[in-house]
Amino acid sequence: MADTTTSELGRIGLKRPDLFREQCYIDGKWMGEPKHPVRNPATAGLLGHIPNLGKAETERAVAAAEAALPKWRSASARTRADILRKWNDLMLKHQEDLARLMTAEQGKPLAESRGEIAYAGSFFEWFGEEAKRVYGDTIPGPASDRRIIVLKQPVGVVGAITPWNFPAAMITRKIGPGIAAGCTVVLKPSELTPYSALAIALLGEEAGLPPGVFNIVTGDAEPIGRVLTEDPRIRKFTFTGSTPVGKKLAAQCAGTVKRVSLELGGNAPFLVFDDADVDAAVAGAIISKFRNTGQTCVCANRFFVQDGVYDTFAKALAENASALVVGDGLAGLTQQGPLINDKAMRKVQAHVADALGHGAKVLTGAKPDSQGGTFYQPTVLRDVAPDALLCREETFGPVAGLVRFKTEEDAIRLANDSRAGLAAYAYTRDLARSWRVSEGLEYGMVGMNTGLISTEVSPFGGVKESGIGREGSKYGIEEYLNIKAVFVQL
Ligand code: SIN
Repeated sequence: MADTTTSELGRIGLKRPDLFREQCYIDGKWMGEPKHPVRNPATAGLLGHIPNLGKAETERAVAAAEAALPKWRSASARTRADILRKWNDLMLKHQEDLARLMTAEQGKPLAESRGEIAYAGSFFEWFGEEAKRVYGDTIPGPASDRRIIVLKQPVGVVGAITPWNFPAAMITRKIGPGIAAGCTVVLKPSELTPYSALAIALLGEEAGLPPGVFNIVTGDAEPIGRVLTEDPRIRKFTFTGSTPVGKKLAAQCAGTVKRVSLELGGNAPFLVFDDADVDAAVAGAIISKFRNTGQTCVCANRFFVQDGVYDTFAKALAENASALVVGDGLAGLTQQGPLINDKAMRKVQAHVADALGHGAKVLTGAKPDSQGGTFYQPTVLRDVAPDALLCREETFGPVAGLVRFKTEEDAIRLANDSRAGLAAYAYTRDLARSWRVSEGLEYGMVGMNTGLISTEVSPFGGVKESGIGREGSKYGIEEYLNIKAVFVQL
């Protein structure tokens, strides 16, 4: 076992090997015995172990976060901003190491990991700046001798649970605004991708973050999740992950009436109208569908293409998809990594089999890649039935299923026929249509003539069963602030 670990780690080739941590971070101390194995999804090789912490250690982390809160919330905004800026600087300084670590534990191509580290750091930079702009209000009082002042104050201790698909950015998009607002945090990262989180904690320590402000626990999801959702000392809970798990965690938060933010599953429609720039639509579709091997909540999941451009779009998309290089993300040319695990592979295969059973035709792919493991070929299917699994559920894999439509009304109706409402995309060169479609789509985010909508400056989040609250942008910090009205009688 030790040899495997050494060889997997050796392959990553970290310039700073101490960024690889196998212990949790509580109250500024590294602790816990590494027990639970973590594997590289590209090779199935053992990367290392992490502690298997439970209720008692999570409660200890909550106590540390609670103890650190008074000092941290009363530190000046400038102090918090300086630390967050340094944290971002350190992320960028160690971008290559962090990216290699991420690819080894998550599988995404190295170029995407490098991009994610910059994206992750940008939330520290952005929210550090926003910390200085947490303005309140003064409100004219209801009588001439009364004044009302609105103060914004940190919510308190935050519990956070983050997923494996963006092992760095989903963390910083939560802790960046939380820490900027003056909150303290206990985080449980995915047990599949803990090493990015632990490296980020080390860099936070180096940036000057005081003990207890940011704590990480790894281990069994059930007891850790219970403490983070049920402990009354935690005043806000934030989660990114699947809709069924999000619903369960939100219900657990009800007992202590916590503030809750949820970024849950999507089922993004991608609309291509006859008046679209088809080349641009294909380029956008490749980005939106195949980023992270189709494993993002905002990946296009259902393609609705108008009659007049259907065949041209289908052919070009299949050509571009089949040219994507599949392989180990650490290899230079790779554009599509493995799926995260066997369960993900089974879901992709079931969705493809179901679509074919409903009459879809294969334009490219539709089978596991010859490299074995969880590598799956980039796939394009045409003539997919709108009621196939591929359209009803989020596939979370590299499969594009094309459905034909005739009118704009049909396209909007088909797109909105989902309980999810995270991201949607549309391609049209008609200005009036672009407004009608943007306004008609029941989604939290619309990519109009673009397949990439993720940036720290824009609000990220969904409607319907895709979640509650917004991350990023000027709105993101509000999720970590309470409003207090002070009535003054003169
Ligand atoms: C997600 O998949 O939840 C996040 C994707 C992104 O930030 O672009």
